[in-house]
Amino acid sequence: MSFDLAALRAQFPILSQVVNGNPLHYLDNGASAQTPLAVLDAVRTYETTGRANVVRGVHMLAERATEAYEGARAEVAAFLGVVPSEIIFTGGCTAAINLVAYSYGSLLKPGDRILLSTLEHHSNIVPWQLLRSRSGIEIDALPVTDEGRIDLSALPRMLTPRTKLVSLVHVSNVTGASLDVKTVVAAARSVGAKIMLDGAQRAPHGPLDLPSLDIDFYVFAGHKVFGPNGVGVLWARPELLEAMPPFHGGGSMIGRVTFAETTWAPPPRRFEAGTPPIGQAIGLGAACKWMRGLDWMAVHAHEMALTQRAMDGLQGIAGTRILGPSSLQDRYPVVSFALEGVHTHDVAQVLDSFGVAVRAGHHCAQPLMDHFDLAGTTRVSIAPYNDNGDIDAMLAGVEHAAKILR
Ligand code: ALA
Repeated sequence: MSFDLAALRAQFPILSQVVNGNPLHYLDNGASAQTPLAVLDAVRTYETTGRANVVRGVHMLAERATEAYEGARAEVAAFLGVVPSEIIFTGGCTAAINLVAYSYGSLLKPGDRILLSTLEHHSNIVPWQLLRSRSGIEIDALPVTDEGRIDLSALPRMLTPRTKLVSLVHVSNVTGASLDVKTVVAAARSVGAKIMLDGAQRAPHGPLDLPSLDIDFYVFAGHKVFGPNGVGVLWARPELLEAMPPFHGGGSMIGRVTFAETTWAPPPRRFEAGTPPIGQAIGLGAACKWMRGLDWMAVHAHEMALTQRAMDGLQGIAGTRILGPSSLQDRYPVVSFALEGVHTHDVAQVLDSFGVAVRAGHHCAQPLMDHFDLAGTTRVSIAPYNDNGDIDAMLAGVEHAAKILR
């Protein structure tokens, strides 16, 4: 296999747009990636030839819809290296974490502890705070290092026999730092804690082999892996899914309903109450299949070369401060920076006038911003279809912002 950037870019019609008089330079992939034709075609095929509800019907369209929906589950499972019955479709990554916080959380007792970190997205903080107010669990947070990694040297003192779950971000949506999963798993297992990884920013950078990670829960979102929005994935070990009560009640998730008592369907149905996001799940399955077709050695090298180009260029602009590891080691293509004396939204606005789309603000990581004493950063997040022109346009925009706003 090889990596033909022009051919890859041609699969994303949205990239050929002109924005504010400039070619679009889309560098906000961490918030939402774009979708290739293969995904759009899969959704269109469902909507035009098989649109019906799943599981319930016996007619031809219902059968087609069910087959496509279960086919998508199999594609997601192949992407993660697991079996389809362990895949739950949710409304997104946040919804998946809320599912675990509610259902697995309901098995916890007052005084049990959850270990998070200062690097977490709010979606891996707030659901646990809601659980804390319902059930009296306690929350601890690992600190971060100066280069924006979770400080794993604090694990021995922060893990206790009461720690039931360690839930951490696999790759930071702000600093791009990736987690040393082996060290976390060894430490967590030594006190009998389960491990969940928030894979929202890792999954867009290639297939995973979850069994080799030896974790218990994994979550990610459809729209960040080149699929539709409104869909996400929870993977969990089958014995955990089996032990967990439902999150939402309704159709499809039951065994038998009477007014006296209702029994639950086995997983994954138990956790997919009501009509699921069928077209979105089918699109997500197509996105996972599309990703598995890429040569990730070549794509990763390309993404990291662009990351280096962005970091080198930003470092050359006086007054910029990059949050995150200074080398490419254990790092993914997310580059956040502050421009001294300039509001991050102003930087993003100048970039927009150059046709460059980035994200600005606290990135749903306010505890991390507090740690670095910043209100926010400007974030460049890179996907396989980005090129040198995207990075150079961003750098020209930042230089211009530095000139006119300081
Ligand atoms: N969680 C998404 C991000 O980091 C929206 O941009």
